[in-house]
Amino acid sequence: MRAAFATGFDDADPLAVLTIGDAPEPTPLDGWAVVEVRASALNHHDLWSLRGVGLRKEQLPMILGCDAAGIGPDGSDVVVYPVVYTEKGSFSILSEHYQGTIAERVTVPAYNLVPKPAELSFAEAACLPTAWLTAYRMLTTRGRLETDGAVLVQGAGGGVATAAVLIGRALGARVYATSRDAEKREKIAALGATALEPGARLPERVDVVIETVGEATFEHSMKAAKTGGRIVVSGATSGHLPRVDLRRVFALQLEILGTSMGTPDELADLMALMARTGVRPVIDSVVPFSDVRKAFEHLHSGDIFGKVVIDHTA
Ligand SMILES: NC(=O)c1ccc[n+]([C@@H]2O[C@H](COP(=O)([O-])OP(=O)(O)OC[C@H]3O[C@@H](n4cnc5c(N)ncnc54)[C@H](OP(=O)(O)O)[C@@H]3O)[C@@H](O)[C@H]2O)c1
Repeated sequence: MRAAFATGFDDADPLAVLTIGDAPEPTPLDGWAVVEVRASALNHHDLWSLRGVGLRKEQLPMILGCDAAGIGPDGSDVVVYPVVYTEKGSFSILSEHYQGTIAERVTVPAYNLVPKPAELSFAEAACLPTAWLTAYRMLTTRGRLETDGAVLVQGAGGGVATAAVLIGRALGARVYATSRDAEKREKIAALGATALEPGARLPERVDVVIETVGEATFEHSMKAAKTGGRIVVSGATSGHLPRVDLRRVFALQLEILGTSMGTPDELADLMALMARTGVRPVIDSVVPFSDVRKAFEHLHSGDIFGKVVIDHTA
């Protein structure tokens, strides 16, 4: 079957070790199901994998992709929940230990199949399992955002960040969002956020900061949080060793909270929120599988707004 996989690691030029070609059919374990993938979505995670983050050489070749929506073994439309729990209680995301979703077929534990809401297209549903679920958990379970709260989203052009802007608005919060790019700031404003340049002074301090950028924005995130504010971190695209002013942490009783992905219950809650409010993922582009390399190049360029989706039927 055709697939996109990592055949090596290259920190400087990750796309040099991306291979598009033939991969073995998935061999389901006991209790696992095979899904015919209709749409997958790219995440920054796929670039990290090509750089060798979270993968060992002996695991190669590894099919990339955490996210998929498709057809389950009983013919129903499903979304693939991408976290696989081991008996030892640890967890792994598809494409880390088990083969990923950017392929004609993927195998996952049967309990990872979630019915796709009829309101969502395959392309929209494929955006949810990683970026949207992570953003939802950051704002709700971890950030404890209240309806009349305020939130700052850093690096707002990205997949997690555009999700956080829209979910924050759907939850009734005031949303501020920074982006380095003027054109992206215009698009963010159109989503209902107050768009700002990185590091800009906010009209108010916020309850929750959504941090996926890391070093480039962290100092600003610390300054933007109000007393008792929560800075929720799920990524560090620009670097993971920012300077942290500990005096500010204790004086303002700030919370710096780490988070990864989300639970199946949170995915169900997110889908219910979307059905209720009509909120849909921001899709940067839908790229046919035959052009999957172009999709990776586009993500790698950083010139994206929302999710890059792969159409597996084309
Ligand atoms: N822990 C988890 O479960 C989890 C889940 C999902 C994602 N993540 C992590 O979260 C991060 C974002 O993921 P994603 O898939 O949303 O990535 P993405 O779609 O590629 O977006 C990355 C965004 O980060 C901003 N950015 C990048 N470099 C920057 C810099 N030097 N200065 C300021 N902003 C910068 C950009 O925003 P602007 O261009 O608008 O400035 C860019 O759009 C990644 O590191 C990813 O690995 C973690």
